[in-house]
Amino acid sequence: MTSVSLVLRAPSANRVYAQAAGALALSEAHWVLGAHLGAVPRLRQRSVGGMEALEVHGAPALTDAPAPTGTPGEDVELGRLLGSLSSTLGVLDVIEEPSSGQEEPLLRPRALPAVLHHPADLETILRYPGKTNEQFTAMLVNLAAALSARRAGLFDGTLSLLDPLCGRGTTLNRALRLGLSPLGAEIDRKDVEAYRTFLGSWLRTHRVRHTLDSTRLTVHGEQLGIRVEAELAPDKQTLRAGRGQRLTVLGCDTVHLGKLLPAASVDALVADLPYGVQHGSRAGDQWQRSPLEVLRIAAPGWRRLLRDGAGLALAVNRHTLDHAQASAVLADAGLRVLSADGAFRHRVDHSIDRDILLAIPTDHPHAEQLAALAADQESYTP
Ligand SMILES: C[S@@+](CC[C@H](N)C(=O)[O-])C[C@H]1O[C@@H](n2cnc3c(N)ncnc32)[C@H](O)[C@@H]1O
Repeated sequence: MTSVSLVLRAPSANRVYAQAAGALALSEAHWVLGAHLGAVPRLRQRSVGGMEALEVHGAPALTDAPAPTGTPGEDVELGRLLGSLSSTLGVLDVIEEPSSGQEEPLLRPRALPAVLHHPADLETILRYPGKTNEQFTAMLVNLAAALSARRAGLFDGTLSLLDPLCGRGTTLNRALRLGLSPLGAEIDRKDVEAYRTFLGSWLRTHRVRHTLDSTRLTVHGEQLGIRVEAELAPDKQTLRAGRGQRLTVLGCDTVHLGKLLPAASVDALVADLPYGVQHGSRAGDQWQRSPLEVLRIAAPGWRRLLRDGAGLALAVNRHTLDHAQASAVLADAGLRVLSADGAFRHRVDHSIDRDILLAIPTDHPHAEQLAALAADQESYTP
């Protein structure tokens, strides 16, 4: 039995992200393990045989047995959690630390329970300017899910996830790979059409049983845009019974979401806010560089859709959105930002200084435990 595991880090999708990947992996593990397990194990970055890894202390030995599916709200198995972290390549248990004469620890690889239901190319094939890095997107999904009181639903398909600014679907594709049934909204019709075309061709190429339809999105006689709906299933019977994974993309302004979707139905909200570089933000009839206005107008509607125990992970460009101002706007909508300014800060390029805002509804039943995780992260020294 070992009490130390090394989580090997996959090569990062691009060089800039790679420079920050170690610190980000540490922060992600802090929140994900801390929220799911109820306590943060000791974590540090470590290099072994030239490979970059995250060292996780005090971890019970991982079992090869399939993890329990877990009802929402229950703790889920550590191996599954480590395997689900956005940068995990594999996990090695430390059998013996180096003694005199040895240079590296004795390690044993672990087979991890599978958490992904579809091949990686669902996330990687589609390339376009303004696409959010897939590994970073996976981290946003994990963080928002960890904040949710229904966090175990990430592993049994029941976590309801919304990206209200979904672009061409990087978050939606991650959610589909996790076995979820996500919802997205995007104002740019071209993006919605491009995503639909890509998804249709991907589903056909991979011979996934599916339905895929576009209809008009109309409320009280007013046409707001289009609605794309898909259902994916492993076989004909599941599809016929309507028990497959569902995907909904609303091609409309995100400010309409509060009236289009059922109240208190969303567990995790993930968004990469427009950076004012590739994408502007649309608030009312105005296009502008800062996403603050879109946040001000849309956040009350988003809050209406969220369950009290929901979690939010919002990627922001610090050049165009100030942490204090964003926190004030979210507070007005009944949302409390937990993460400190710069808690996930990393440079993407000269115009994007990225950070993540982690937030929860003010009525969240686990608010104090989650606020304690935020406080620990501030004092956490790798
Ligand atoms: C940073 S991009 C998201 C990219 C996405 N994660 C992806 O990888 O494709 C932000 C998106 O917000 C959209 N957007 C801006 N204002 C909007 C609004 N009011 N309603 C809906 N979408 C909006 C933009 O068109 C853009 O696609």
